[in-house]
Amino acid sequence: MITNLILLVTAWRGTARNAAPARSYGLCRRLLLATFLLIMALPSARAQTATFHTDVAPILQQRCLMCHSGGNPAAGLGLDSLEALLEGGAGGKVVEAGAPGDSELVRRIRGESLPRMPMTGPPFLSDIEILTIERWVAGGLQAGQVSAAKASVVTQPRPAAGEKVTYLHVAPIFATRCAKCHSENGLMGPAPEGYLLTSYQSTLARGERVRVVPGNPAASELLRRVRGQSRERMPLDGPPYLDADEISLIEDWIAQGAADSEGSSAQVPTGARVRLQGRLTTMNLLDDLELVIGAHTRIDKNPRPGDYVQVRGRIDSAGRVIVERLRKRKK
Ligand code: HEC
Ligand code: HEC
Repeated sequence: MITNLILLVTAWRGTARNAAPARSYGLCRRLLLATFLLIMALPSARAQTATFHTDVAPILQQRCLMCHSGGNPAAGLGLDSLEALLEGGAGGKVVEAGAPGDSELVRRIRGESLPRMPMTGPPFLSDIEILTIERWVAGGLQAGQVSAAKASVVTQPRPAAGEKVTYLHVAPIFATRCAKCHSENGLMGPAPEGYLLTSYQSTLARGERVRVVPGNPAASELLRRVRGQSRERMPLDGPPYLDADEISLIEDWIAQGAADSEGSSAQVPTGARVRLQGRLTTMNLLDDLELVIGAHTRIDKNPRPGDYVQVRGRIDSAGRVIVERLRKRKK
């Protein structure tokens, strides 16, 4: 390799010195020589091809398996074995041997296809990790040696006692229980109510209204839905619904500021609209949520304590719900 490089440099210096038109035959010959030497140098680059078990599996293990493994992997795509990966997901194959640019898996980690993976990002994969996976695809999807340390079962990451709950902890629940419908192209076609649960940003997006009010779980329709305080209860294909641990994890996440994967809390979406459903405990309590009712509130169909109602309003800077309309509902 080193001798090749020295020869290459010599050849190039020769071409530069002899670049006069009268010596074009020599120039041609030296360019040919340089090209030949370059090709000679290639096998050593090819020897660096990544393999699944040695190079790719450790990345997937750390960043993807929390959602893409087990009996109900996100998007129907298991990444916990080479066989599952090659089989692909709901959208078909995700890797094309020799063609990283045509491989959905590569496009997702580069962010060319959305939502970008891992769904918990940012942080996304590092440049070196992305290059490693690209080299593996470009090199023909070689399996390589199975390492002694077999991929262990990956459980959902749980915060340690006293640790802040972040998106990293709740995202696998949304990915495996909600995204099958609340995604661009889910079971019901476009996402119901336009609500995407496939990234941190979309989960908190303001859009027409917010479904997560950082710091105020009771004002978050997302939590009301998984608790069954608001109908229809989510996930819509339940039972089984979420278990008590999952629900309290989501509640803690919202109460602690609905932080992103890096632990930064979200801003209170001052002025954003909400649409909530639940049962009136007293005239200004929706279940456990304090309602700010005043002269600005329109009250329809004479709701009384005990009635199931719909509340429309806005979030003020303290995260409270300023009610614009309170209406009794049939069910
Ligand atoms: C927090 C959960 C989560 C993590 C972590 C995650 N994914 Fe995903 N992944 C999803 C969800 C949900 C979808 C479906 C989203 C959609 O397409 O609307 C998806 C879709 C995909 C798809 C498209 C599948 C298809 O058939 O179209 C690929 C490829 C993919 N993920 C690869 C990865 C890779 C590689 C990693 C790790 C670097 C990763 N994912 C990490 C949740 C996750
Ligand atoms: C089988 C499909 C399906 C699944 C799975 C599902 N949803 Fe839904 N979701 C719907 C439909 C349909 C609606 C609209 C009808 C309604 O409001 O009851 C909806 C509405 C919602 C709403 C109200 C949106 C708004 O604008 O007020 C929230 C919040 C929600 N879902 C959260 C979730 C969460 C969280 C999960 C997972 C724990 C989930 N959904 C799983 C189909 C689904």
